[in-house]
Amino acid sequence: MKTCTQLISDRALLGTVALIVAALLLGPLARLEAADRKSGGPTAFRPGAVWLDTAGRPINAHGGGMLFHEGTYYWYGESKEGRTWLPPSNKAWDGYRVDVTGIRCYSSKDLLSWKDEGLVLKAVPGDPNHDLHPSKVCERPKVVFNPRTKKFVMWVHIDSEDYQAAQAGVATADRPTGPFLYRGSVRPEGQDSRDQTLFQDDDGKAYRIYSSENNDTTYISLLTDDYLRHSGTFARVFVKRRMEAQVVFKHAGKYWFLASDCTGWDPNPARSAVADSIWGPWTELGNPCRGPGAEKTFGGQSTFVFPVAGRTDTFIFMADRWNKTSLPDSRYLWLPLRFHDQRFEVTWQDTWRLDSRADPAGTKPPNR
Ligand code: GAL
Repeated sequence: MKTCTQLISDRALLGTVALIVAALLLGPLARLEAADRKSGGPTAFRPGAVWLDTAGRPINAHGGGMLFHEGTYYWYGESKEGRTWLPPSNKAWDGYRVDVTGIRCYSSKDLLSWKDEGLVLKAVPGDPNHDLHPSKVCERPKVVFNPRTKKFVMWVHIDSEDYQAAQAGVATADRPTGPFLYRGSVRPEGQDSRDQTLFQDDDGKAYRIYSSENNDTTYISLLTDDYLRHSGTFARVFVKRRMEAQVVFKHAGKYWFLASDCTGWDPNPARSAVADSIWGPWTELGNPCRGPGAEKTFGGQSTFVFPVAGRTDTFIFMADRWNKTSLPDSRYLWLPLRFHDQRFEVTWQDTWRLDSRADPAGTKPPNR
């Protein structure tokens, strides 16, 4: 006959053995997830896995961008909710969509644990003509802080359901977590504008970089000093190279560029380029991805690149792995981006940490 204490200790032993067996059977991912649960949040970047926010909900910020402001990172992206469907006008190119709900923001100090700050730019369901009506398209938000006006300025791709309106919308806020006030949209430089990004240079000048001429050519437009309009100074670059998902960043005095081909939600080989001036000439450097799946950007599409604050030469590549028939279940691919030999590379890793050996520059752990 066993005593009560013996029974409890037998059970505890069985529980531990069961956990060990489960962890061995399930492999490294399950072990990492168990570590996350124990530490109360993600402990590593896991490209392509479901990424939970601090409330335990999947992060919902697609086609996004990053702003670092006063010690905090702000991740802005498309909130994709509800049913995914294929409008008849988009059948020829698999232009699946969800109705617009708005742009969501998350904040973080360590780039792993993200707090949902809510919808910072909301859809406007009451007015079918409004750019932010659920029936429209509102994609690829990017936010910069204007030190002169002290406003946070967001630019987005605004479109009609069939992607024929092709405009650029702008919104401003007094705080990084909004609310953003929508100020309207334009067809810049007398042309269409679809996929887009922003780049803020060290001298305070800001540029909008976007697909134009029906995605044939990339445009780079200098914004006015308040970042709210196109100044009229612009360049046509990568003429007729058909690119989307453009990204511009700066390192060691040079301008670096990433983009995709134009295949809708489906992945394709990434493109990269370098220039001494943002106006070019730009020299193409080919696909910077390395490792399994590199020929199709690991099943993803670029959306942003940013330097990690306080570290030398440590950049993170952000991409979306779209799930075109269930868009809210699209995932994020964050990978280290490494410079060497007059080019940069993005190498696949199942899991990685900023302070692990997989860290791009072998730099110190982040200050948490
Ligand atoms: C992609 C683009 C996305 C979205 C999609 C629609 O090529 O990068 O932002 O517009 O097409 O199919």
